Amino acid sequence: MEQCLLEKYRDFLPVTPQTPLITIGEANTPLVRSQTLERELGCGELYFKLEGCNPTGSFKDRGMVVAVAKAVEAQTPAIICASTGNTSASAAAYGAACGLDVFVVVPKGNIAMGKLAQALAYGAKILTIDDNFDKALELVLILAQKLPVALVNSLNPHRIEGQKTAAFEIVDALGSAPDYLFIPVGNAGNITAYWKGFKHYKQAGKNDNTPKMMGFEAEGAAAIVRDKVITDPKTVASAIRIGNPASWKGAVAAKDESGGMIDCVSDEEILSAYKLLACKEGIFGEPASAASVAGLIKLRASGQDFSAKKVVCVITGTGLKDPDTTIQTTKTPAELPADLDILEKEILKSS
Ligand code: F0G
Repeated sequence: MEQCLLEKYRDFLPVTPQTPLITIGEANTPLVRSQTLERELGCGELYFKLEGCNPTGSFKDRGMVVAVAKAVEAQTPAIICASTGNTSASAAAYGAACGLDVFVVVPKGNIAMGKLAQALAYGAKILTIDDNFDKALELVLILAQKLPVALVNSLNPHRIEGQKTAAFEIVDALGSAPDYLFIPVGNAGNITAYWKGFKHYKQAGKNDNTPKMMGFEAEGAAAIVRDKVITDPKTVASAIRIGNPASWKGAVAAKDESGGMIDCVSDEEILSAYKLLACKEGIFGEPASAASVAGLIKLRASGQDFSAKKVVCVITGTGLKDPDTTIQTTKTPAELPADLDILEKEILKSS
């Protein structure tokens, strides 16, 4: 049997003899080589890290397994988080697996259907507020101080520790760190975690190099790029609709120390990359995930040359979480009579 994340990377994680080695099958996600975009964009090598293959369909499971194991170790009866959806789905799953009460605070109308369904299915207590993610996080921070509940947002350092294991897996798969890592940025925990991971693995002698960290916010929620809090963030990529990222400083440090950049992509660029990924690579990521690929496409279009470079784009969550966006952005198939000739004509017409 595969070792679980907490066992496999225990030397790099806050695992003590008292930490329960819980798992629901997180991590060890595929790093797949591009079939089409590598050639079309003229990259030396292009890979996608498929974090949607985690048990709740996003990268959040890596950090959540550590945060929840530590909450169990500390005998905390309950966990709480604010979320744009994926953190709540992950917290709900790990909380359920460990018999904890789970409270999730989410912005009304701004969380994808699949994510809400997950939190419901895992039996979390969902607290919907008529405000955005930033406000939800603000409230949750106060509640976690007042009540006997552990905060499992990425301000909990155990979350970052767990999430950095994705960088380890990339180095293990490639034999070195890539030249560039493209990653979506919302609350900025993940870019902070990857950078920490690449640095720690280097200190341990696993890689000689570290990648340039290329973070992409959504244009309507680009607080770090604009260097100011966005009070009413807007984007089709609801997962990264965040105007005051908690790990702002971590993201800026990752960019500065690695010689990378934090830039933004428009909703149009995000949706175009989202469709290309699905239609040209067979990879169905959620809109926020496509921000990494949209960033690469944007830089290539502006003349940046990746021809001798190894590039990894992180696909942070599965597209199945947000079927509404797919339906709204694609053509609905016409309904046809159950007639052989008509079906045959349709097929011939489109081949
Ligand atoms: N991609 C997806 C699919 C996400 O769900 C998130 C964040 C990000 C990218 C950005 O990662 O916040 O570490 O910079 N989702 C959080 C949530 C905010 O509540 O699920 P980040």
